[in-house]
Amino acid sequence: MNKKLLALVLVLAVPAFAGAAQYGKMTLDSKIESMKKAGVGPVIYPHDKHELLFKCNECHPKVFKEKRGLNDMSMKMNMDGKFCGSENCHNSPNAFPLYICTNCHTNVGVKK
Ligand code: HEC
Ligand code: HEC
Repeated sequence: MNKKLLALVLVLAVPAFAGAAQYGKMTLDSKIESMKKAGVGPVIYPHDKHELLFKCNECHPKVFKEKRGLNDMSMKMNMDGKFCGSENCHNSPNAFPLYICTNCHTNVGVKK
C-alpha cells in the first residue's frame, strides 16, 4: 500500500488522528460573487485532512501561498493543473475529480 493511501485509511479509520492537525476546516469564499453566478456556495476546505496526507511544504509555498485569500484561485486554474488541480491531486485518480462540485462547494444557492 502506498503511503498516501495508508494515510487516507488512517484518517478514515481513526478520526481521533484529526486532533493532531494544526488547522481545521477553512471557508474559502474570496470569489463568492462568481460562485453565486455559477450556482455554487463557498468552499469548505478540510485543511486538517490535507495536513495528514501531505507535508506542509508539499503545498506551501509552491502550490498555495500560506495566507487565506492571497491565492487568487479560479476554477479555470484548478482545471489547468494549478492549485487544487495540481499534479496527483484533484485532476488525477488520487482524489475525487473537479466536476463533483459539491464535494468542495456547499450547495447553498444551487438551483434545484
Ligand atoms: C494539500 C495542501 C496543503 C497542505 C499539505 C497544507 N496546507 Fe496550509 N493551506 C492550504 C490551502 C489551500 C490554504 C488556503 C489558502 C487560501 O485561502 O488562499 C492553506 C492555508 C494555510 C494557512 C493560512 C491560514 C490563514 O488563516 O491565513 C496557514 C498558516 C497554513 N495553511 C499552514 C499550513 C501548515 C503549518 C501545514 C502543515 C502542517 C499546511 N498548511 C499544510 C493547503 C495546504
Ligand atoms: C477540489 C475542490 C473543488 C471542486 C471539486 C470544485 N471547486 Fe470550484 N473552487 C474551489 C476553490 C478552492 C475555489 C477558490 C475559492 C476561493 O479562493 O475563494 C473555487 C472557486 C470557484 C469559483 C469562483 C472562481 C471562478 O472560477 O470564477 C466558481 C464559480 C467555482 N469554483 C465553481 C465550481 C463548479 C461549477 C464546480 C463543479 C463543476 C467546482 N467549482 C468544483 C474548489 C473546488
